[in-house]
Formats: sequence, C-alpha cells, structure tokens
Amino acid sequence: MARTFHTVGVVGLGTMGAGIAEVFARAGLSVIGVEVDAAALERGRDNLRRSTERAVARGRMTPGERDDILARVGFTGALADLRDADLVVEAIPEVMDYKRALFADLDRVCRPDAVLATNTSSLSVTAIAAFTSRPGQVVGMHFFNPAPVMRLVEVVGTVVTEDGLTADVAELARRVGKTPVTVGDRAGFVVNRLLLGYLNHAVTLLERGVAAKDDIDTAMKTGAGLPMGPFTLLDLIGLDVSHEICEVLFQETRDRVHAPAPLLRELVTAGLLGRKSGRGFHDHA
Ligand code: CAA
Repeated sequence: MARTFHTVGVVGLGTMGAGIAEVFARAGLSVIGVEVDAAALERGRDNLRRSTERAVARGRMTPGERDDILARVGFTGALADLRDADLVVEAIPEVMDYKRALFADLDRVCRPDAVLATNTSSLSVTAIAAFTSRPGQVVGMHFFNPAPVMRLVEVVGTVVTEDGLTADVAELARRVGKTPVTVGDRAGFVVNRLLLGYLNHAVTLLERGVAAKDDIDTAMKTGAGLPMGPFTLLDLIGLDVSHEICEVLFQETRDRVHAPAPLLRELVTAGLLGRKSGRGFHDHA
C-alpha cells in the first residue's frame, strides 16, 4: 500500500532547509523544523515570515493563507520532537560525520516506520542509509535553490531502498507542486553532475582572462537563454557548497572538468561565499 505523509520534519534551517519547510507548509502538511543553533533557528523562522510576506505583498497569497502556513510550522531545537513525523528531510551541512551522528539519532527518535530523507547534493545516500537500522527506508530528496521556486526534486533510491518507496516519495513531491525525477545514487545525481562542471569551467575561463565575469554572465544569460549567468548562480548556490560538490565529483569521476578551479577555492578560503555572506563573485551588500 502506498505511504502517505502528513507530518514532515525538516532538520537544519539554513537556506535549503527553510525553503523546504516552506514548500511542505504551503502544500498543507504539518512541519516540524529542527535547528540546534538558536540563531539559525531564528533566521529560519524569519525566512519563512519574509517569504510568505512577499507572496502576500505580490497578491499571490491572502493574509489568511499566510497565517495558516505559519501556524503549520513548529520550530524546535529538540530532535525528540520528531517522534510523530512520517518523514524527516535532513538539510544540514555536507559533512559526512555530521550526517552520521544525525541519522543515528533520527533512527533512535523517529517512529520505526518513518522515512528518513537526505537533501544531500553529492554525498552517498547509500552510506547515509547505512548509519541507520532502517536503510531500506532512507532515500535522497534533493531540492534546488531557491526551494520554493525551483520545481525539480531528484528522488534518489539506493540498492537497498524498499520497493515502492521512491515512487511514494515522488508522489509526495508532486503533491507539494514539484516535478520529481528518480535517479540512482551516483555523485551529483543528474543536475549537479552536469551543472557543476559547467560552473567550474566558467571560473577557469575567468582565470584565463577569456572574458570578464560580468561579460561571461551576460553571455550565458542572453546567448544561452539561462535565467542567470554562471557567477550569479555560483553566488546563489554558495561558493563553499559549489566547491565541495566539485571536490566530491572530482574524487568520483577523476574528470578534470570537476577539479575545483583555484580561484573558487581561494574565494571560499577568504570567506567570500556568495549571497549568504554578502559577497562572492558579485557584491550582494
Ligand atoms: N526564495 C523564495 N522565492 C524566491 C527567491 C527565494 N530565494 N528568489 C526568488 N523568488 C521568487 C520571487 O519572489 C518571484 O516570485 P513571484 O513570481 O511569485 O513574485 C519569483 O521567484 C521570480 O523571482 P524574481 O522575479 O525576483 O527573479 P527571477 O525571475 O530572476 O527568478 C530565480 C529568480 C527563480 C532564482 C531564477 O533566476 C532562476 O531560476 N535562477 C537559476 C536558479 C538555479 O539554477 N537553481 C539551481 C541551483 S543548483 C542547486 O540548487 C542544487 C545544488 O545542490 C547546489
């Protein structure tokens, strides 16, 4: 019988987690947002408030709908509050040791039949599943930034995923207004495998002095019909996240297109991470 999901937990309320919580709440599900860092929890709450406020201001949502959405999301610092969740989506930083600790904890606090999903963009879902006693109930549910706007969700199954689970998760993605594609557990899945090589290559072109960054952005936006040029997009994704994905892809593929461009690494080392830090390739202050 197909699984249905009513209450969803989202762990980690950074850019992606806050956006994912909003997606579920907008679609009428109850959401429990968990963030251990108190300041990050407040930022997550603010994100949701600002995003729904913007929708009201643009006439895309009534004040009543906004209030209903806000009422559907609970914020907490305690993982134990996930005890009634049907599904938990993890959106914490891409560090395997953090995932290991979190999934072991989730395995303890969540109902035995709950599904555990990771929003990882490049780490192995199979390895994450192996941190639990229920690897068959662990999937990847990879959203794109900004999560409330981008329609795709990559649903990642592994060799041990229970029959029918990826189909049920894909159905949930449809229910919350997304377009799911089912993909195998290979580094970068589909989008990042193709996209990050291109973005990294754009940094190499800049390093080689082929063109200025604004001109490369303009060229790809107006010549290739993309919504954003590569440097604007790198700033949106986050240079640290982009660098990390390139590293993982390079380890797996050994394809030089994924070897992180030195300039990308330098900007990350300097703390210029893109929109979230106020400056990356472009200034966002
Ligand atoms: N959060 C919520 N809503 C947002 C938003 C955000 N961060 N940014 C924009 N929006 C909304 C706006 O409110 C607006 O909504 P309405 O139409 O309801 O008013 C809508 O999106 C369009 O926004 P704008 O008019 O301001 O700007 P735009 O038309 O340039 O669109 C964009 C912005 C949707 C981000 C578009 O530029 C775009 O699609 N860019 C490419 C993004 C992309 O490729 N993302 C994937 C990155 S890869 C990834 O995420 C995977 C990974 O693992 C790293």
